[in-house]
This record gives sequence, structure tokens and C-alpha cells, in this order.
Amino acid sequence: MDMHLTPDIAAFQAVLDRLSPDDRARVDAALVPAAVKAVEAAPHWDFELPAKAVDQVLGADASNDVRRGLVAAWTLQLPDRVRAMALPAEVMAQYPYWIEQLAAFLTKAQGDYDFDHWSKDVRFSLALSVPAAKSQVIDLSSPVGPGQIITHVREGWGLKPLFRYLAAGAKREPWLEVHTESRWLRGFNEDGWNEAWATAAELCRGRPELAGMIGSSWFYDPPLTAISPRLAHLRLNPLNGGAFMVHQGPAPIHTERAGTASASRKALIDSGEYTARSWLMVWPRKELIAWADRRKAV
Ligand SMILES: CC(C)(COP(=O)(O)OP(=O)(O)OC[C@H]1O[C@@H](n2cnc3c(N)ncnc32)[C@H](O)[C@@H]1OP(=O)(O)O)[C@@H](O)C(=O)NCCC(=O)NCCS
Repeated sequence: MDMHLTPDIAAFQAVLDRLSPDDRARVDAALVPAAVKAVEAAPHWDFELPAKAVDQVLGADASNDVRRGLVAAWTLQLPDRVRAMALPAEVMAQYPYWIEQLAAFLTKAQGDYDFDHWSKDVRFSLALSVPAAKSQVIDLSSPVGPGQIITHVREGWGLKPLFRYLAAGAKREPWLEVHTESRWLRGFNEDGWNEAWATAAELCRGRPELAGMIGSSWFYDPPLTAISPRLAHLRLNPLNGGAFMVHQGPAPIHTERAGTASASRKALIDSGEYTARSWLMVWPRKELIAWADRRKAV
């Protein structure tokens, strides 16, 4: 299995070589224990927990160079990890691009290590999350407890998700969870998202224990169909393919993200005409695989 890591080995090695001897010793000492803690934390709903667990092993005074060195060292070991995982061809095809992107990011990076990037890089370099398309990554294990579904019903958003959740097997775990990679957005478009969902379907096909795939974002909010029509496919395509949506609600992080790139959305938020709300998109495995099969047939 060729992950095309070879052209980038020198870049990851250079990230390690520029460390001071003390920092390098710190990376070497953390390599195994921090990976163990990250793996233990990975199935939690908190996407950032593996990075937080690694930070605990590293200690509060660890520098961002040490963090980058650790990601480089884990990425050099990534082909061995991935080889043991029997991932579908759709995932494997994404690795060369993602490794190249990560090599370029680590090579240029100095100073701060944005916590979202650090969280994603810990998961990626340890194969706790795998590439799904150019701008989407998939966590291999995420929970969907009944709490959010019950809150959705109790707050008057409708009964449908409850029936769908029960039909999907309620206690069945784990789920895949998809995330956007904001550092490389080339695939943040309808084709890119379809590719990501098709990759998730192949992961489900190969792993019968998986319940399906979820995603959580402000961009599944129904008013966006009118406000930002170019984002409507994000909600409508999964819905048309058999997914269901669970209301999660407003929060400062959703307001901030929804207002980041679009001046017109920001104006509506600032004037109080629109409140960004997050929704959980839940695509059960049966419907997701059927969607992927229909897509292959056309
Ligand atoms: C999610 C995100 C990447 C989507 O970006 P996007 O595909 O460009 O879509 P947006 O609706 O946000 O569009 C941004 C603006 O650029 C404009 N635009 C986007 N693509 C364009 C194109 N090809 N040509 C001209 N204008 C374009 C849009 O018109 C929009 O401005 P407007 O709404 O005022 O008209 C972006 O909103 C973002 O980075 N958000 C913050 C991070 C985030 O939320 N990540 C997801 C976490 S769940």
C-alpha cells in the first residue's frame, strides 16, 4: 500500500531536526505514552480530547515546536498504522494530498499552533481520523447518545428523529463523524462533499459495526437554503439521501463561524434577523450505503 509519504519524509524529518536537543528528547519520550492516551480519548464526543490528553502527557510548558515535532514523528509512522487498518481505496486515495498538505503546513508553521489545527493533526497523524475528500476528514469513532434526540423532541422540533434513531438501532455505536478542514478548503463544494459522504459509505460497508455517519454544524440550518443558497446542498443532499437532522441550537461558536466568510450572513446576524443554529446530521449506515450505490449506478 503506497501512501506516497516518500516525497514528504524529508519535510517531516526536517521539522524534527530543527528542534533543540531538549525538545527532541521530549518528543521521543512522549511518542508512545501520548499516543496511548490519545487513542483512549478518541471515542469521546469531544473531538479535541485526544489533543488535550496529549497535552497532559507533554506537560503545560511544552512548546508548539514540540507539538509540531510530535505530529511529524507520528506522521512518519502513519503508513505502518494505516497498513494495519484495512481502509477502503477511497480513503487511501486521499492520503498523498493530505500528507503533502500537512508537510507544507508543518514546514511553514511558526509560533502559535491553533488548537483546532493541533486537535486535527493529532487525530490525523495517529489515524484516529482519516481523510474523506480534499477538505473533509472523518473520525472513526463518535457516539450519538439519546440525550440530543430527546432534547430535540422536548423543545418541540418534532418526533421524527426519535423514530429514525430507534430505527437506526439506538444503542448501536460507534458512528463516523465528518469535519471540515479549514486549512485546505479546495474541496468545500458540492462535489467535494459528495466525495466525502461516498468515502464514509465505503468505510461503513467495510465495517459492519459502524452505525452510520454524523456531522454537526451551523451549515445544516434550514434558513440557509434561502439566506445562502450555495450552502443548501449541505443539508438537502444528505436529507434526500436518507439522513435526518437533530436540532442542537445556537451558541457563540456557531455565530462566529457562520459570520466568518460571508458578509451578507454577518449583516443578518448583526441585525438580529438571523440566529445561527447548529444541527446534528445523522445518516444511518443502511441509507448512506444505498445512497452511495445509487451514486455509483449513474
Ligand atoms: C464553511 C465555509 C468554509 C464555507 O465557505 P464558502 O463555501 O465560501 O461559503 P460561504 O457562504 O461562507 O461564502 C462566503 C462568501 O464568499 C462568497 N463566495 C464564495 N464562493 C464564491 C465564488 N466562487 N465566487 C464569488 N463569491 C464567492 C459568497 O458569496 C459569500 O459571501 P456572501 O454570502 O456575502 O455573498 C466558511 O463559511 C468558513 O470558513 N466558515 C468558518 C469556519 C467554519 O464554519 N467551518 C465549519 C465548522 S462546522
